[in-house]
Amino acid sequence: MKISNEIKEKAEILLEQLTLEEKAGMIHGGGLFRTAPVERLGIPALYMSDGPMGVRAEFADAAWVPVGSTEDYVTYLPSNAAVASTWNRELAYECGSVLGEEARGRGKDVILAPGINIKRSPLNGRNFEYMSEDPYLTAEQCVPLICGIQEHDVAACVKHFAVNSQETQRLWVDTELDERTLREIYLPAFEAAVNRAGSYSIMGAYNRLRGEHCCESRFLLNGILRKEWGYEGAVISDWGAVHRTKEAAVSALDLEMSVTDNFEEYCLARPLKDAVQAGEIEEGLVDEKVRHILWLMLALHMFDVDRMKRIAVPADRKAGCYNTPAHRETALRTARESMVLLKNEGNRLPLEKGKLKKLLVIGHNGSAIHSNGGGSAEIKALYEISPLMGLMSHLGGNCQVKFVEGYYKEEREAGETNWQEDSLKDGGGKERERTAVDEKTARIRRELLEEAVKYAKEYEQVIFMGGLNHEFDVEGQDRADMKLPYGQDEVIEAVLDANPDTVVVMIAGSPVEMGRWEKKAKAIVWNWYAGMESGNALADVLLGEINPSGKLPESFPYSHRDCSAHCVGDFAEEKLLHYREGIYVGYRYYEKNHVPVQYCFGHGLSYTEFVYSDMNIEKQKGIGSRSGNGNENGNGNGNGEKSGSGEVTVLVSCNIKNVGKRAGKEVVQLYVRDENGMVDKPVKELKGYEKVELAPGESKRVRFRLPGEAFAYFDEAAGEFRVLSGEYGIVLAASLQDERLEGRVRV
Ligand code: BGC
Repeated sequence: MKISNEIKEKAEILLEQLTLEEKAGMIHGGGLFRTAPVERLGIPALYMSDGPMGVRAEFADAAWVPVGSTEDYVTYLPSNAAVASTWNRELAYECGSVLGEEARGRGKDVILAPGINIKRSPLNGRNFEYMSEDPYLTAEQCVPLICGIQEHDVAACVKHFAVNSQETQRLWVDTELDERTLREIYLPAFEAAVNRAGSYSIMGAYNRLRGEHCCESRFLLNGILRKEWGYEGAVISDWGAVHRTKEAAVSALDLEMSVTDNFEEYCLARPLKDAVQAGEIEEGLVDEKVRHILWLMLALHMFDVDRMKRIAVPADRKAGCYNTPAHRETALRTARESMVLLKNEGNRLPLEKGKLKKLLVIGHNGSAIHSNGGGSAEIKALYEISPLMGLMSHLGGNCQVKFVEGYYKEEREAGETNWQEDSLKDGGGKERERTAVDEKTARIRRELLEEAVKYAKEYEQVIFMGGLNHEFDVEGQDRADMKLPYGQDEVIEAVLDANPDTVVVMIAGSPVEMGRWEKKAKAIVWNWYAGMESGNALADVLLGEINPSGKLPESFPYSHRDCSAHCVGDFAEEKLLHYREGIYVGYRYYEKNHVPVQYCFGHGLSYTEFVYSDMNIEKQKGIGSRSGNGNENGNGNGNGEKSGSGEVTVLVSCNIKNVGKRAGKEVVQLYVRDENGMVDKPVKELKGYEKVELAPGESKRVRFRLPGEAFAYFDEAAGEFRVLSGEYGIVLAASLQDERLEGRVRV
């Protein structure tokens, strides 16, 4: 991200006039979500808000108390996991655009999104806020999303930089990983976010990396971010992630935020001013931080500098808006494309709407809503269509829908304080405790199970709706395992025994164990936290009004014990975490080690069938190529970077035909397979994808453009990415395991 010279000159004019007191006010929180204004010069406060799924509700300036007004309801967008599951760059862009426009509409300058940490383990409580286990897919989906946000004179704040893949002890946990893993797995999406998308700001993570707190890290912030990537945007700390004044001052962090109301005591407040006055910290370090904040403000058109070049004056800035019908339409279209049809034996789905006269829905999640939970990603949604409401409104009055709870979700007592107020206690996060089931709960569960089984026998058409909720998919806490809570396994099994045609819908933000009943179920639909229109989108899919086209952006292992973070590396440790699995994260590990998974990366079925044919591979030399999105089909966003000239570009194409009876969308996935065996590498890696829409009988040519970097690995000895010359396989596939076409290329 580069700032223009004009902006830089204007910033200097203001910077010269600021006192130390004023400067310090601009680089630490002066309220829970803002900096201090400099009224004397017309510099406003910088207003920030969470988060990835919409603009968060308004809080009091200095207390974690929601204002409780009726003006801050917003569009609740599908979670990042759902956005990634669409494998649709255009939708990611549109979601970003809604988020940016609503943030601006709510008077914000920075929206604290998107979250793009790599899903190293299925147990991370914040996985629903993140996109994928794969760096390429994460980068490709986050770049357009950020571009969409920033079209509205609002800054994205991509988070959490970096290697922040667990919640347990998140404030203090120290991460140890090798350089290749850092470069190949954990950094590429951040680099794309700042360099390709030009994210105006980035949030430093809570955790430590190689001994340094990320928000004070000279290695990460000064070295990689500023020096290597040339980043000119603003670096904002996570809330309470700064611990030491001197370290924060000399690091490339620009703005310290926290959760406490003693703003003057923040490291970059009074302690910093005192240290500057005592000559212990150079004022130039403060200036550098203020400079970045001024650049950010000027880039967002928060103000301009007057003709006399003395003070900030109003600028022509986009106004934004929120809760428009068009925004809700984007939420709906994204939710539809995010649904993943995991299994559909004997074409159990879709249900025939016209013939449905009676329908039984079992399961608490059928009537649950999720927008108001999860931690800082919580949303005060204008509305949220529950699955049951979606189905009932689609089916109308001629179908009698009966709902039974199926499983018992114990009500939790609300704490006296807001969780965020306490979020710096006890290391900031923990692993969820397994609680024993008391007698009352066991009795209620038994009764609900019996009721569910009784009705499942009576009804011909039955849908079970279960999964997780934000007591499990939640900030500040990792799951203890992948098991379904509330005794759901028993209920699903018993219901399937009573009625083997029961359709299972899982609503969750991270994978769950399904081993106990998966084989018995004929149809399974995966529904992420998919925003305010989630229930309508699910009904569309179940009733065949929409043909599902989501693909899993992460592997679904049988159990977390199969995952490399657990069986090779460390997870949920309190002090030091060794990422011993190295680059073998997610499918890279399962495929290499022949570990079977429940559902593989990239998996997702359709109500129609696609045939792949006529693969062609060509090499083009010496032509600068668009790197990154491998997209020649004209539907990408924010990908304009040229790769080095003289480099070989590989052009890959194939035909894809819809041979079924319904229109549908297919995600053609391109994986590069290393055939040389000279370097230890995954079996294959995702390096391109395209989503195409096809009418029945229609065929299209899908094209990919692979830059040299698609064949590269990080050479630790050389300290850079290198491409080894030799043979590479190019695989075109419908999922990691469903390979359709393969060719070879010598690079
Ligand atoms: C989270 C951030 C969030 C911040 C502000 C922290 O607890 O880690 O993602 O943006 O709070 O609410």
